[in-house]
Amino acid sequence: MLRIQRPISERYTEAEPQQLASMIVAAKEALGDQVFILGHHYQRDEVMEWADARGDSFKLAQLAQEHPEAKHIVFCGVHFMAESADVLTGDDQKVLLPDLNAGCSMADMADIDEVEEAWESIAAVADINKFVPITYMNSSAAIKAFVGEHGGAVCTSSNARAILEWAFAKDKDTNVIFFPDQHLGRNTAYDMGFDADEMAIWNPRADLGGLDEATIKSARVLLWKGHCSVHQRFQTEHIDDFRAAHPNGIVVVHPECSHDVCVAADQVGSTEKIIEAVEAAPVGATIGVGTEIHLVNRLNNETPDKTVISLDPLVCPCSTMFRIDAPHLAWALESIVEGRPVNIIEVDEDTTYWAKIGLERMLAIT
Ligand code: 13P
Ligand code: SF4
Repeated sequence: MLRIQRPISERYTEAEPQQLASMIVAAKEALGDQVFILGHHYQRDEVMEWADARGDSFKLAQLAQEHPEAKHIVFCGVHFMAESADVLTGDDQKVLLPDLNAGCSMADMADIDEVEEAWESIAAVADINKFVPITYMNSSAAIKAFVGEHGGAVCTSSNARAILEWAFAKDKDTNVIFFPDQHLGRNTAYDMGFDADEMAIWNPRADLGGLDEATIKSARVLLWKGHCSVHQRFQTEHIDDFRAAHPNGIVVVHPECSHDVCVAADQVGSTEKIIEAVEAAPVGATIGVGTEIHLVNRLNNETPDKTVISLDPLVCPCSTMFRIDAPHLAWALESIVEGRPVNIIEVDEDTTYWAKIGLERMLAIT
């Protein structure tokens, strides 16, 4: 979906860091617990500094739900996270995304029309009642609503296995279609003991997903052909190079990385789990991390007794997470103080109803 952020006033873009800090402090003081600022781990330090809570996408969804007193939630993350927060919060709460251009290229790889078309195509050749649709949190509210309405659930990188186990426990003949990240779906299915020949990739650009009828019927897991361009950069060669340079080093990667990278790593987990892995590592350890660079650098700065480095020597920021900066945060906060909140992310009533079912199934399972 096209969302355009109009340029904001020079009052913010031309301000010195100290002036922006004063604006943010003043707005937070004026608003008190009327405002709650959430920061995803990939945010810049200049933004994270002001977050009331940090988290991975699962924790942020829980936190949004647990703060009914906050009439305004300023979501420093990307669009699908702000949508989920809107779905999970009350009608009297508003969720603001400081920069509307903060989307997610992976979420954009599954469009609701393509998903509905895929479902109809599968129904034309197989027993659709055997299919349970599961979507990764990194998807639009429309797709979360689709899975909610069709007996499925949402998952995040920290609970994908529990959600797939739930889906497969429904019936011995269950098949899953997993949107939109093929890597998280594949890594989770392998973890659960499925073989490569029990999985197939659904290509939304090809007739019948690029598959034949027999494969659609026999595959236990259909993987939507989507990926994260940040995590897909990590290669096993990066791990080989890291291990050669740091024979006692620890390798931790995000499950959006490809399967061979996850197999070569010592630990695989969500951003929250990556933080826990660094905390648990012995003093003096060197940890090579396969995820977005802002989190890697922050872990290195906040853990002075350990060395945390990116597995990829070339910097790999998430360009959309990077859209949120201190000027946009100050602008969003002052708009609330002035009584004309900007960039409100509002999911329509029908979509909210079904997306909430998909999200609450996830929260109840994990
Ligand atoms: P987490 O749920 O691990 O925070 O991941 C979100 C994300 O977008 C990773 O690219
Ligand atoms: Fe989306 Fe990848 Fe950025 Fe995460 S890192 S928000 S999956 S583009």
